[in-house]
Amino acid sequence: MAPAKPSSLEHLLTSREIVIACGSGGVGKTTTAAAAAAMAAVRHDGKVLVLTVDPARRLANALGLEAFGNVEKRVPDEAFRAAGVKPHGELWAAMLDTKLSWDDLVRRHAPDASTARRILDNPLYQNITGRFVQSHEYIAMERLYQLHADGKYDLIVVDTPPTRNAIDFLEAPQRMGDFFSSRLLRMLTVPYRSRLMNFASKPFYQVADRILGSQFLEDIAEFFILFQTMGPGFIERAEAVTRLLHDRRTTFVVVTTLESAPAAEAEFFIDVLSSKKFHLGAIVLNKVLPAYLRSEQGTPTAERLVENAAKLAPALVRSVLKRADPEQVQRVLVEIGQSFLRFQVVAQREAEEQAALARIPDVVATVPYFDTDIYDLTGLLRLGEQIWTETHHG
Ligand SMILES: Nc1ncnc2c1ncn2[C@@H]1O[C@H](COP(=O)(O)OP(=O)(O)OP(=O)(O)O)[C@@H](O)[C@H]1O
Ligand SMILES: [Mg+2]
Repeated sequence: MAPAKPSSLEHLLTSREIVIACGSGGVGKTTTAAAAAAMAAVRHDGKVLVLTVDPARRLANALGLEAFGNVEKRVPDEAFRAAGVKPHGELWAAMLDTKLSWDDLVRRHAPDASTARRILDNPLYQNITGRFVQSHEYIAMERLYQLHADGKYDLIVVDTPPTRNAIDFLEAPQRMGDFFSSRLLRMLTVPYRSRLMNFASKPFYQVADRILGSQFLEDIAEFFILFQTMGPGFIERAEAVTRLLHDRRTTFVVVTTLESAPAAEAEFFIDVLSSKKFHLGAIVLNKVLPAYLRSEQGTPTAERLVENAAKLAPALVRSVLKRADPEQVQRVLVEIGQSFLRFQVVAQREAEEQAALARIPDVVATVPYFDTDIYDLTGLLRLGEQIWTETHHG
């Protein structure tokens, strides 16, 4: 029998081991990832890790931590107590440090300690790992793989950085594997070898030497030659990471607001997930305007308020707004009515976006626009409650 489709975020999170939150910039990925992880830790046994790929100091503070880095830190019980809850499980947090994670990876994959040392000491190493074929995206997925393989956590929730092209994430492991089997890598390492054999006959390299300095070219070639020694391990590993991302234990949660640009990006990303056979578990619609703005009955009321503001103002001053200036009151009434009508237009557009998005996944959860920023566990759990058990039926 096929497993039942998860009907709520709670069900989704308790039936998976990796949940990856993605979406465009500023839509609430970090907040949603942390809120979902916190809810899982409060309501269920087990250890939950929220892994953020973004430098998110605000998140650290919201979780009651001074800061956190590459090594996971446990969110203290006091932070939960301050939010008025006693968690069943444990909540841990870590932030990806690209450089440290690359160093780690090199140490693990280099054939021996001295090769590892030479790679790490190569002056180009740092520079190149910073730019190299989506190194950030790759290392994020690699770190996730390692944490999952260590088996210390029952659930890992990943917060991804705002990525115009979220596909880079999904394809980074594949691309890394391709790079190691590519001709490009061979070409990059060839000049150095042939230069050693027949330096004088290569005017190109003489010119390049003069312009760039021979040390620079040697550093480049040495780096790639050394890097190649890690090839087989890397390819195998990249394949394993790709498999894990496709595994049924892994699911994606697309976070978006209902503004047209992020919503369009979300729809595009959802298509990519489906065409590449990744599992889309849920869509979280964040910062959604309240439902009463969608009611058509509000329109005539607001229109009449605007039309009759001149008559209403003196009546209001007589009855409740004693000593107020009737002209001021009139202006405020007009402004209120008009902005209600403007909000209605936005809410209507949101409703259309929502209908388009709601057709797709198993779970759609909506979160209202809160009147305050979310800066502590209380706020995170308040948001978490909103998405936790909301169910979606077609
Ligand atoms: N439902 C909400 N109501 C009110 N404020 C919210 C809501 N969701 C998120 N926020 C606030 O919006 C801001 C952006 O949220 P967040 O940092 O989670 O977005 P993000 O998608 O991770 O952004 P980035 O793309 O920059 O990483 C934060 O200040 C957060 O507190
Ligand atoms: Mg973020």
